[in-house]
Amino acid sequence: MRRVMIGMVVIAAGACRTADAPPAAEPTSAKPGAALADWTPPPESAIPDDSMGVSVRRGLALLRHTPDSLPRYATSNLRCVSCHLDDGRRVSAAPLAGAHARYPKYMARTGAVVNLTDRVNYCFTRSLAGNALPDQSREMQDILAYIAWLSTGVPVGTKVAGAEGLLKLPSDAVGDSARGHALFETTCAQCHGSDGAGKLPPAPALWGAKSYSIGASMAREERAASFIQHNMPLTAPGSLTVQQAYDLSAYINAHPRPDSPGKRADYPAGDAAADTPYDTKGHTAYRAPARLLPRANPRGATVNAPARAADGGVR
Ligand code: HEC
Ligand code: HEC
Repeated sequence: MRRVMIGMVVIAAGACRTADAPPAAEPTSAKPGAALADWTPPPESAIPDDSMGVSVRRGLALLRHTPDSLPRYATSNLRCVSCHLDDGRRVSAAPLAGAHARYPKYMARTGAVVNLTDRVNYCFTRSLAGNALPDQSREMQDILAYIAWLSTGVPVGTKVAGAEGLLKLPSDAVGDSARGHALFETTCAQCHGSDGAGKLPPAPALWGAKSYSIGASMAREERAASFIQHNMPLTAPGSLTVQQAYDLSAYINAHPRPDSPGKRADYPAGDAAADTPYDTKGHTAYRAPARLLPRANPRGATVNAPARAADGGVR
């Protein structure tokens, strides 16, 4: 009886996959680093009705309700989909779609090859200014299950649109925070609040104790300008000029925000991005915020970097 039931589930899941999932890429055409054109992530309606689907759905719920579901780990008022818009599908908002096929990956900020679990925890500790989720927790496995499902059909090592994170802005503009302030009041404050704390839910905090930390990509002038230019204001994305996005980014990132313990050890190879707002090896802070707010749990706020090859590793 039991065996029959399992067989039926497998058949049902198989049928569901052919009906809804995007066509799988030709494995023979997948060269490492090659681009996979015309791929789109599966729609939510294609989540299978089996044990894997239960985990995928739980992972999606955690991305959408991060502070409510995980109050000990997500201590800001940001949720994962505050930045990874459309449940991780939007190309201009650092998509999670395809991420399963991009890891393990070398990260210059860490100076090491990291796995997807650590990468998720970099967002918990830096972008959410929260605490690292235990690797073996049910919740971490569910988040990974969702990201894997959202990457259905992307061969390991191939890249899909948005694979490099936030799109690079085609400009070397410098933000003017006074101009940014004026624009913020007329275009952003109705949702995010004049005090930047988040006013109309789910609009999250842009600065202050409940916002992202200084160690987040969003704390860099060019990265936040890219997010803003492509995605904000929420109801009219693309309506701001590149210069206006830089002005807003400079204004937002000049404010106090949570610290990121251990940030001085970032970019250990001395290759910090030019707009990194804190001192690291060979780099002087670019426009550091007015003040940094101490973290309640500094130990939870860090992810142990894997040993670098140059350090010898484990023997
Ligand atoms: C404040 C905005 C923000 C929040 C909130 C956030 N992230 Fe991110 N995340 C980013 C940005 C930006 C990147 C890409 C880095 C870049 O472009 O420099 C990223 C990258 C990632 C990546 C790597 C993607 C890849 O293919 O390399 C994963 C995985 C990820 N985030 C998961 C999460 C999860 C899970 C949460 C919730 C716990 C979360 N993020 C919350 C901004 C955010
Ligand atoms: C209509 C309401 C609305 C307006 C207006 C708006 N936002 Fe947002 N913004 C949001 C929401 C909602 C989110 C999070 C997305 C989600 O939860 O679905 C967000 C997310 C963000 C984020 C990423 C999350 C974070 O905390 O860093 C930034 C940065 C941002 N907005 C900046 C701006 C700027 C700058 C403006 C003005 C140009 C603006 N927003 C205008 C609603 C708005």
